Amino acid sequence: MAVGLFDSGLGGLTVYDAVSKRLPDVPLVYFGDNAHAPYGVRDADDVYNLTTAAVERMWAAGCDLIILACNTASAAALRRMQESWIPKDKRVLGVFVPLIEALTERSWGDNSPPREVEVKHVALFATPATVASRAFQRELAFRAIGVDVEAQACGGVVDAIEDGDMILAEALVRSHVDALKRKMPEPQAAILGCTHYPIMHDAFQAALGADVNVYSQANLVADSLADYLERHPKMIGHGTDNLFLTTGDPRKVSDRATQFLRRQISFQAA
Ligand code: DGL
Repeated sequence: MAVGLFDSGLGGLTVYDAVSKRLPDVPLVYFGDNAHAPYGVRDADDVYNLTTAAVERMWAAGCDLIILACNTASAAALRRMQESWIPKDKRVLGVFVPLIEALTERSWGDNSPPREVEVKHVALFATPATVASRAFQRELAFRAIGVDVEAQACGGVVDAIEDGDMILAEALVRSHVDALKRKMPEPQAAILGCTHYPIMHDAFQAALGADVNVYSQANLVADSLADYLERHPKMIGHGTDNLFLTTGDPRKVSDRATQFLRRQISFQAA
């Protein structure tokens, strides 16, 4: 038994990296659906079908607790999964809420009515499917009032990262930040609302300028998982080794993962 981390591809490794450093004794199973990445250009039914298939595979690998380390799946599929599909003894959690709690200065599970917060102008960078879902704005509205969110769908960035073409990824980041700034010239905060984007953190920060606070999810999700496991210690599992599964080509995916995390990562066929 282990904690599962799911992503459409390599992006969830940013969350894996933070979780494995924060919780070095917790066994993890990482699942990258690289054969079907990117999810961000798919419709909600497609994302739901792919995500549920991956989650079933991770249940088979012994994961009772799964984090969808993928905003697109969290935005387009998680609510539907939680409403009717997930059995009582399993938990599937998303990555939006920890981020929004950080942005709105709330501690975990603070369900008090929405209130005014410090930050007023927020840029959201995410995949086309996440932007179309408006899930971020919906979750934010439960907690904060008077926050202006401008969303920028960042087409192409995930494909470039999955292909290892970092020059293209950087050029795309610059052009998406330019497009955002035409709509919102002075954002106070920027949300990297796709787990692939922290790999391009420096490019986002450089294009946005040093005074924009760039939020990325990895550490926030790791902290909130640590908190959750403290309250639900049975979910920790008793495995000892981490396992990396992919629907893609294990050799290619291992090479890219090793390059991104700067340590040896070996994927197996899912
Ligand atoms: N890394 C994912 C996310 O957080 C998915 C990106 C994609 O497959 O398009 O949205």
